[in-house]
Amino acid sequence: MRTTLEETAKLLLQGAVVAVPTETVYGLAASIHHENAIDQIFALKNRPRVNPLIVHIADREQIDPFVEQYPPFFDEFAAHFWPGPLTLILPVKTGALHPTITAGLVTGAFRVPRHPLALQLLKLTGPLVMPSANLSGRPSSTRSEHVEVDFGNGFPVLEGGVSTEGLESTILAYLDAKWVILRQGRIPREAFEPLIGYVPDISLYKGGQPLSPGQLFRHYAPQARLSFDLTAKGATHVLGFVEREYPTHLTLLPLGSLTDPATVALSLYDTLRELDQRSVQQAVVDMDFPSLGLWATIRERLEKAAK
Ligand code: TXA
Ligand code: MG
Repeated sequence: MRTTLEETAKLLLQGAVVAVPTETVYGLAASIHHENAIDQIFALKNRPRVNPLIVHIADREQIDPFVEQYPPFFDEFAAHFWPGPLTLILPVKTGALHPTITAGLVTGAFRVPRHPLALQLLKLTGPLVMPSANLSGRPSSTRSEHVEVDFGNGFPVLEGGVSTEGLESTILAYLDAKWVILRQGRIPREAFEPLIGYVPDISLYKGGQPLSPGQLFRHYAPQARLSFDLTAKGATHVLGFVEREYPTHLTLLPLGSLTDPATVALSLYDTLRELDQRSVQQAVVDMDFPSLGLWATIRERLEKAAK
């Protein structure tokens, strides 16, 4: 069910959950002040409650009431990448965010999305939590139709067209006097070097504990079994590149072109969902592509999808 901007704002302020477009992927939105709506998000997605949510804000100033202390380069990050696909983990003031949002952590995750409708909405509603609008473990949604597949035709969705970036935000945290990547995302890690003087490391664990609880769980996976061996027996489809030739018994589902990772990023979840649409049981993925920049995030998503 499509809702207008005004209806969406009204529903959210009344404590409902509505799917909202962002430039990365669609999110399942709830007001940070409506505990029941936040609970409902976890139930709808079948999301483990130990997995905290990102607080989305209209502009940098909106987070001042929550943040205990800003780490070095925070203002530079905000000025350069917001609005946009960057999520920053920041220490939060005690009691400022409901523990269901932070999963009881002393930090919170914050981002200013770039989608014009999301920004207009946030100005009307104030801060919203928004996990990706997909069933936990499944590919994210880059179109309103994807949201309907996962949550049903009656589910309220603010129509925002196809997400222009296609992959989730990059998550950065300041740990032991360095910025590190907790989740690779739409902004490649090399893009931070000009600002902070080094390429942040990808840091998933500290002392055996995952730094970002989301990393613990299965992600982005279609029903079909995926493997990276193009000769795998039983495979009927190949996720591959338009300039390559594949064995003739494999139906090509194009990821895009090897010359254009941005387009691959844009259609990745659509392609993974297409496998389910066609009830494919087994498919192979051509992983012979570069490893730097945005390709690194694409590789990470495909590796997780195949787990
Ligand atoms: O692009 C995006 O970020 C999308 C759109 C809708 O904004 N949202 C999104 O949310 O990807 P979600 O819930 O699917 O992923 C949020 C990730 C999870 O892996 C979670 O563990 C991590 O953020 N996270 C949230 N708060 C955290 C915190 N305080 N410390 C570490 N990781 C945190
Ligand atoms: Mg997600």
